[in-house]
Amino acid sequence: MWMTWMRGLAAFWVCGAGLALSAPPTFYKDVLPVLQEHCQGCHREGEIGPMAFVDDYAKVRPWAKAIRQSVVTKRMPPWFADPAHGQFANDRAMPRELIDRIAAWVDAGAPEGDRRDAPPKRTYIDGWNIAEPDYVVEMPRPFTIPASGKVDYQYIVIPLDLKEDKWVQMVEARPAAEARAAVHHILVYVRAPGSNWLRGEAEPGVPFVPPRTTPDGKPRDDIGGGGNEILTIYTPGNVPDIWEPGTAKRIRAGSDLVLQMHYTPSGKEVVDRSRIGFVWAKGPVERRAITFNTINTKFEIPPMAGAHEVRGEAFPLRSEAWLYSFFPHMHLRGKSFEYRVRRADGSMETLLKVPNYDFNWQLTYKLKAPVRLEPGARVDGVAVFDNSPNNPFNPDPKATVRWGEQSDEEMMIGFFDLLIDAKQDLRQWFRGSGRRGGD
Ligand code: HEC
Repeated sequence: MWMTWMRGLAAFWVCGAGLALSAPPTFYKDVLPVLQEHCQGCHREGEIGPMAFVDDYAKVRPWAKAIRQSVVTKRMPPWFADPAHGQFANDRAMPRELIDRIAAWVDAGAPEGDRRDAPPKRTYIDGWNIAEPDYVVEMPRPFTIPASGKVDYQYIVIPLDLKEDKWVQMVEARPAAEARAAVHHILVYVRAPGSNWLRGEAEPGVPFVPPRTTPDGKPRDDIGGGGNEILTIYTPGNVPDIWEPGTAKRIRAGSDLVLQMHYTPSGKEVVDRSRIGFVWAKGPVERRAITFNTINTKFEIPPMAGAHEVRGEAFPLRSEAWLYSFFPHMHLRGKSFEYRVRRADGSMETLLKVPNYDFNWQLTYKLKAPVRLEPGARVDGVAVFDNSPNNPFNPDPKATVRWGEQSDEEMMIGFFDLLIDAKQDLRQWFRGSGRRGGD
């Protein structure tokens, strides 16, 4: 009796100060709400998490130890921003108290508790992470991804058939469920009615691989969108674009979508037919969202370099804008990425630092409060690449690495979204920036 009591007491002590002498957490009462809030976004049927942490003890119990390990080491939920810089609306980092709660639950033997204590089930819209879409388009033809090898980027033009200009408040691109593991990214461009990009070359609906050079042998400079706007980017584990009411992206009547599909064979032949869902803005729009980047396509990473820095080109803004979100993009040698705002008065501020870049997690970092940029301000991107044998993902430390689409080549793109006055003419806005774009 005495010994049992002693052992019980010891168990209480290891639970940590906050929980000492209280009953251990149970699945239904204490743990399920955390799984709903922080894990089910990915760990449910049809999403990217390899197992579903649904509202059923029997299904989750076998994973208890793995869950504990993943949250204590902060591998899960995936989030890579250095907390020293910037505050993010979509910050996935879990509060310490919740990590401790999960650990205490597992340490106490992962008790089930009473099903009647369970929070209400979360409901999800079938197939989407945005609200029920007002408009959905699908790749007109399926694309077969082979089991192995490399697949060139496929460009697919999808006519939109919009009779009037539209403001988009939410947009989500989704691969077909069976092809999910083989879709590395979907970059969705809006081809404006006046743009000739791929026109006459890529037949609508038919996957197309643009030749790398022009007929007279020069490298093409229009592979990255030919000055057309990016609407959204799908990567596994990222959040879809959802702007607050009053903020939206614009699509002109007569525009087409152009999907840039990066397929990465996953060991089994699968068929993709990705879809894009749109929710139109329901009220007046005051701020227009546009996607820019700080980019460098001319770098050369020497063999064995452990920390090779590459800076993106930046351009000074002509008019006021608000910085809204970031999306750093590198490949397997990406080590860290930083965005800095340099203001006209020379001051500099780091707004996002990703100290341990992970190629498998291409994430958007949405600022909690948009940051005002006055004319003359620039957004700088600083990328560091690790081409040494210390990088476990490095395909070949002896290679000199340059820009290229495939994962054993590299990229340095710091996408960022700006909000501008919705009434502003975008061509006017770009004038003198040295950049093309917009309509
Ligand atoms: C953004 C999507 C996403 C979220 C949110 C997420 N996971 Fe995951 N999780 C994944 C994916 C994808 C994998 C498989 C690939 C991998 O292991 O990196 C995974 C793997 C795991 C694994 C397998 C073992 C391991 O550590 O690799 C565990 C356990 C896990 N997640 C637990 C959690 C828990 C617990 C939460 C919430 C606190 C969570 N995940 C939130 C996407 C997510």
